[in-house]
Amino acid sequence: MSRAMRTLLTERLRLVPVTPHNAAVLWQMLRQPGLREFQDLPEVDLVQFGRMVASRPQRLEPGAWGRFEWLIGFEGIGEPVGWGSLRVGERVSSSAEIGYSIVQSYRGRGIATEAVCALAAEAFSRLHLRKLRAYCVPENAASRTVLARAGFEEDGVLPHGATVGGHPVDVLGYVLNREAWELRRPA
Ligand SMILES: CC(C)(COP(=O)(O)OP(=O)(O)OC[C@H]1O[C@@H](n2cnc3c(N)ncnc32)[C@H](O)[C@@H]1OP(=O)(O)O)[C@@H](O)C(=O)NCCC(=O)NCCS
Repeated sequence: MSRAMRTLLTERLRLVPVTPHNAAVLWQMLRQPGLREFQDLPEVDLVQFGRMVASRPQRLEPGAWGRFEWLIGFEGIGEPVGWGSLRVGERVSSSAEIGYSIVQSYRGRGIATEAVCALAAEAFSRLHLRKLRAYCVPENAASRTVLARAGFEEDGVLPHGATVGGHPVDVLGYVLNREAWELRRPA
């Protein structure tokens, strides 16, 4: 079976792998307002961004490490409305970190929750993970709701775990263990 990153389908959504072919779509989205309040995003031009994407791993399989990203859109229509990511560290292959954002005009419709559940399923089924982690600033109530709905549990504060507006900030850690995910998974 091919271990290439694949398109993920949910009830309403289509998550398409980010490749050099569609990197410009994500780059455009990263420039939209309302995405940087709780997170710093890369300030790179399109050529640099394309190079970053081209250097990422393409196969989502045990042992692969780096950043894997998907564009989140509705099945069958137009422009994507957000993106989600999985990041696997070079040395720690038993856990990965999930990230996500939705453009302002599409928030509050459960899109991030649906996408996070799909990404968690893909991560646990493709990789030998014991846990999936997520981090967000404590003020990001919407993101905390998403993580709680997807089954993540709070796992303490990571001091200076991120930079927002160029400044180090403390972040709340969240964790979804494989056992907890398997219990929630529909049969
Ligand atoms: C966080 C984010 C991805 C959520 O996306 P979304 O598609 O709106 O999420 P969902 O609709 O699945 O769930 C969000 C829930 O939080 C609630 N919510 C939204 N803003 C809120 C706020 N300020 N306070 C409390 N709850 C809030 C929503 O009402 C919704 O709950 P509901 O379904 O009961 O109404 C989106 O707000 C976003 O992209 N924010 C900017 C980037 C970001 O913070 N990314 C995550 C970094 S950790």
